[in-house]
Amino acid sequence: MRKVGIIGGGNVGATCAYQVASLGLADVALYDILEGVPAGKALDMTQVGPVFGFDGRVEGSHDVSVIAGSEVVVVTAGFPRKPGMDRMDLLRKNVEIAQASGEAIKQHAPDSIVIVVTNPLDVMTWVVQQSTGFPSERVVGMAGILDSARFSTFIAMELGCSPKDVKAMVLGGHGDSMVPLPRFSTVNGVPITELLSAERIDALSDRTRNGGAEIVKLLGTGSAFYAPGASAALMVEAVLNDSKRLLPCSTALSGEYGISDVYLGVPIHLGAGGVDKVVELDLDQGELEALKASAAGVASGIADVQSLAAGAS
Ligand code: NAI
Ligand code: 2OP
Repeated sequence: MRKVGIIGGGNVGATCAYQVASLGLADVALYDILEGVPAGKALDMTQVGPVFGFDGRVEGSHDVSVIAGSEVVVVTAGFPRKPGMDRMDLLRKNVEIAQASGEAIKQHAPDSIVIVVTNPLDVMTWVVQQSTGFPSERVVGMAGILDSARFSTFIAMELGCSPKDVKAMVLGGHGDSMVPLPRFSTVNGVPITELLSAERIDALSDRTRNGGAEIVKLLGTGSAFYAPGASAALMVEAVLNDSKRLLPCSTALSGEYGISDVYLGVPIHLGAGGVDKVVELDLDQGELEALKASAAGVASGIADVQSLAAGAS
């Protein structure tokens, strides 16, 4: 059986583990610094096997070597955003964790494809890539699938149609500057610009940009995890099956869209080697400007990490 490692057995990590195991994609190794918790969650998930009829193994441990030999490693270790906390506030706390995760992956799963979920997403994906030393196509961030799923959900709710028919596209960094693309969002091939007024599309785009914060506010403590865990599991599936799905993911750009030296959400083909190809959409001037502004925000986050590192040395 193939193996997927998950670093961080909290809400998103455990949800992703459950999806991967219950879909029968691979055995799962769940690692967390907490003693007992990952092993307990793993045993609980394993006991779903007889109920739903899957026979994949889920192992949990507070020893990171449990991920050894994983083909794919998902990084969800970190602190979730709290109410009133900006994503960039998470930076200092999560850089250390992302670096430790990257070093563990390099040691125990040196041939793996890495999917990063920890926030601030685009910056942390860069941190993990740097600390693994892996080629950038083997380290990819999860956000665009989630943001696009939120946009699709709101479009379906507005039109009263099945979400299965909605394919929305959201690019850019995972934050307030993300770029919903109505021109590339359709209901069974019909652009939403044909179905909704500009005012309603703007309102749904705004709700998408605030999609994470809306759930944080409702939950009171913690942040979204069902759709984030599922979105990461979809990426795992694309890698394991080498399906080359066209998905918006955070990837290292070197000149595409006129942007370089940052991780940013753009459409890619995701397969066994990680990023198989970056897809360059023919964006109009406003869309491109918004994407470049979002890239500038990520670049400033990377600069913040570099200044933290300089301050520490
Ligand atoms: P959580 O608090 O439920 O779980 C985080 C887990 O990481 C905890 O169990 C904690 O013990 C563990 N952890 C901390 N340091 C660790 C280390 N060095 N090694 C291994 N495990 C460690 O948080 P949740 O809700 O699972 O979120 C995880 C991360 O994912 C957060 O940074 C959150 O902001 C982010 N997130 C990102 C999304 C995206 O679209 N990219 C969507 C949702 C969450
Ligand atoms: C979300 O968008 C908190 O980034 C997380 O739900």
